[in-house]
Amino acid sequence: MVNIKNVVVVGAGQMGHGIGQMALMAGYNVTMVDVKDEYVDKGWNKIDEGIKKIEAKGGLPGGKTAADLMTNCKKSTDLASAVKDADIMIEAVVERLEIKQEVFKNCGDNAPSHCILASNTSTMSITDIGKESGRPDKCIGMHFFNPVPLMRLIEVIYSEHSSDESINIGMEFAKSIPCLRGERYIAKVLKDRPGFICNRVTAPAQIYQNYVFDKAVDEGFSWDQLDNDSRSGPMSMTVLADYVGIDVLYHGQMYYSKTLSPDFAPGKVITKLFNEGKLGMKTGQGFRDWSKGRPQVDKKAGKARINKMKYPIAIMLNEACRVLEEGITTSWEVIDETLKAGMNMPGPMAANVNNWQNQVEVLNELVELTGKEYFKPCELLKSGKWVEMK
Ligand SMILES: NC(=O)c1ccc[n+]([C@@H]2O[C@H](COP(=O)([O-])OP(=O)(O)OC[C@H]3O[C@@H](n4cnc5c(N)ncnc54)[C@H](O)[C@@H]3O)[C@@H](O)[C@H]2O)c1
Repeated sequence: MVNIKNVVVVGAGQMGHGIGQMALMAGYNVTMVDVKDEYVDKGWNKIDEGIKKIEAKGGLPGGKTAADLMTNCKKSTDLASAVKDADIMIEAVVERLEIKQEVFKNCGDNAPSHCILASNTSTMSITDIGKESGRPDKCIGMHFFNPVPLMRLIEVIYSEHSSDESINIGMEFAKSIPCLRGERYIAKVLKDRPGFICNRVTAPAQIYQNYVFDKAVDEGFSWDQLDNDSRSGPMSMTVLADYVGIDVLYHGQMYYSKTLSPDFAPGKVITKLFNEGKLGMKTGQGFRDWSKGRPQVDKKAGKARINKMKYPIAIMLNEACRVLEEGITTSWEVIDETLKAGMNMPGPMAANVNNWQNQVEVLNELVELTGKEYFKPCELLKSGKWVEMK
């Protein structure tokens, strides 16, 4: 087993700086790599800021100061030399396959032979990402959730070629990364399938969302009226879509439409917003205007009566059964725990142990309503045998 000391994080953006911060707090030497000095500096400064905040609350481990920890945080724009003495590399660059492949090839050529190469991709095949690395057995997925210091979940993912040893090293490393809100939950993902566990179970709800967005426009309802249909979380439906990013939704849906089913293809509304560059919070305009901060929903605008919560719940149960069918995990308890730790939402399984027959009916009704075949209840759900796969 490798004794990990040196961690290289490639991509110093939203995820990279969070991963770097928590790896430093775990006591590792961290090198942050990006393509330009200004990007590395920005990531490094965010880490510094984050660690100083924790220091101010007395939360740093082992009597260390922020300054002590930051001396272990190096910066680089030269990946080939940054990985020369790396024990693990975590890639958190933009979600584009060819860029990730280039990073993995560069690391494969330059890192010591024992170095594990891990990708933080949200959706993509780890097998494809590691194809040119020259060390496919050492390539794994290590999927953190945003924001890394606060979200408990890390998924550690087998590619088609990862060795058990590489996965075990990844699991041990993931367990060593602290979390500022509760205990980490590390999910071992046994198959390299799009979206892994957490994003996969929630992905097909986007097919339904696209149906709802397009129907609201076709029937002349406002986004306020649509948002008033259901209030299940801190953000309404359109505000959440803007927060996540219209581009993130668009690219994710394109990827799933190619890898899982054409039913995932982005709908009319998402495609229009994407083409117009209205990407949500990050551009100040998406479904909503963000120029004056988080948009407020007009609760007096009435309801569109299009969006019904019973559908996403049934959709998630069906997808979770597909995750079991495909052998991505073997236990429905793992799926529920993964959803809790990664999305702060209850998993779909425990709540449906005695109610799944109703959900089969709801799904059949949804196929009728939307014409989307992907919503057909899968064989494992219909058999009820998933209940025993605890
Ligand atoms: N943002 C999220 O909520 C989230 C959650 C989980 C996983 N992810 C995944 O994490 C990855 C990064 O996402 P993000 O939100 O941090 O993106 P981001 O845009 O904030 O950061 C990406 C960084 O990668 C850098 N980069 C691009 N090409 C590079 C290269 N060749 N070498 C080094 N650096 C390079 C960019 O300059 C940028 O700083 C993506 O794969 C994404 O799917 C994102």
